[in-house]
Amino acid sequence: MKIRFLTAIMGILMGAAVSAQDISKYQYPHHVNISWETEPSTSQSVNWRTNELQKVSFVEYTEATASPFFEKDVKRIEAESETFEGGDDAVWNYHSANIIGLKPNTLYSYRVGNGNFWSEWAEFRTATGTNEPFTFLYYGDVQRFILSKGSRAIRQSIIHSPEAKFMLFGGDMVHRGGLNKENWNEFFQTGEWIYQNYPIIGTPGNHEHLIARSGENLSEHWGLNFRFPQNGPEGHKEETFYVDYNNIRVISLNLCRYKYPEDRDVILKWTEERLKEFEGDWVFITHHYAMDASARNRTPGIRFPDFKALYEKYEVPIILTGHEHLYARGRMDDKFPVYVVSVSGPWQNAIQFGNWIERAGTSLQLFQEIKVTPTELHYVSKTITGELYDEFTVTKDKKGKLSYEPGKNLPPESLVPPADFKDRYKKELVDSWESDLNTYLNKKK
Ligand SMILES: [Fe+2]
Repeated sequence: MKIRFLTAIMGILMGAAVSAQDISKYQYPHHVNISWETEPSTSQSVNWRTNELQKVSFVEYTEATASPFFEKDVKRIEAESETFEGGDDAVWNYHSANIIGLKPNTLYSYRVGNGNFWSEWAEFRTATGTNEPFTFLYYGDVQRFILSKGSRAIRQSIIHSPEAKFMLFGGDMVHRGGLNKENWNEFFQTGEWIYQNYPIIGTPGNHEHLIARSGENLSEHWGLNFRFPQNGPEGHKEETFYVDYNNIRVISLNLCRYKYPEDRDVILKWTEERLKEFEGDWVFITHHYAMDASARNRTPGIRFPDFKALYEKYEVPIILTGHEHLYARGRMDDKFPVYVVSVSGPWQNAIQFGNWIERAGTSLQLFQEIKVTPTELHYVSKTITGELYDEFTVTKDKKGKLSYEPGKNLPPESLVPPADFKDRYKKELVDSWESDLNTYLNKKK
């Protein structure tokens, strides 16, 4: 009895000691990330989290200098802060601020926090607002085993493309969008200083919703973790929106809402208006669900025929998607857009080879570098070991006519199904694999 009592007391004391450390640790800002709510050449939005002891938090910023003695020039903005009690791990204060009035093409230093608890200083460069060439990165689903293996895509992509101007995520950044443990906590640990220096743009996947299977009820964590533009249709803010970065427009569509006719109509009309009004050089659209369901255990078919028609009407060059947990690239009916389905994390599916697919891949972690000039888009898909996996170029002539040139001399396709394929898929899907693969390979001869 005595021993049990002593053990209990020791447990309480040890627990209290660990807990006190945690309190101090989490009073420091963490999950810091930058994005845009407004114009990228003159503003930068910042998001972070602390424990509930830091009720008021600030962002401090100044033009970056090589000298470390810049404190006298620092400006300060008080964050908008929100206490969130519905978390699975603790009560957190989420903070965000939109820094405006910045100079274009200028490097700034910033930090977030208050009192004795501040983040480290980090840097961002505002967009130039002109049309010089630049590169951005795209990632399909990270989703599962985020820290263990998803991190390879995030970290290796920045090592291979440190010049990238932003990171675009096609949804399912986590597996359970309503949970911090094993999900958002791992996602932010994966990026850490990268997310403090490279702006994120993200579109919600079905797994950022509370009912992941059907993609219903966007988790509150989406709005708490990120600060995106409020320029979407009413009721869809920060999930359907656009960012104009220099000469390109990046549109995020939350097509998890597609199943509701009212939402579908609103998003379709809004998208057409955004395409019609745009006067820059290129539009990119990202939505989580691929246009064609390409995972072998899903019913094949075009998911969004009215959006497909809209993309063709406006000749959107590239649509960036995920959800299938494999790689596929191609055009449908020889028209623009070029559809891309990709995956950055380790969870993989076997493929069903839709007729439109020109290049496929399975059992691969990938990221995409998209190089933009006023007249050319150079798309490169790389493995996380840095090897070229796929490539194509879209060019625009003086009259605005687009042409499409798939890469030549690409390495052999990796089409090996995941190791547990035979356990996870119905027998007929396993049995037909070999002949479907041969049909696909023969078609390319
Ligand atoms: Fe998904």
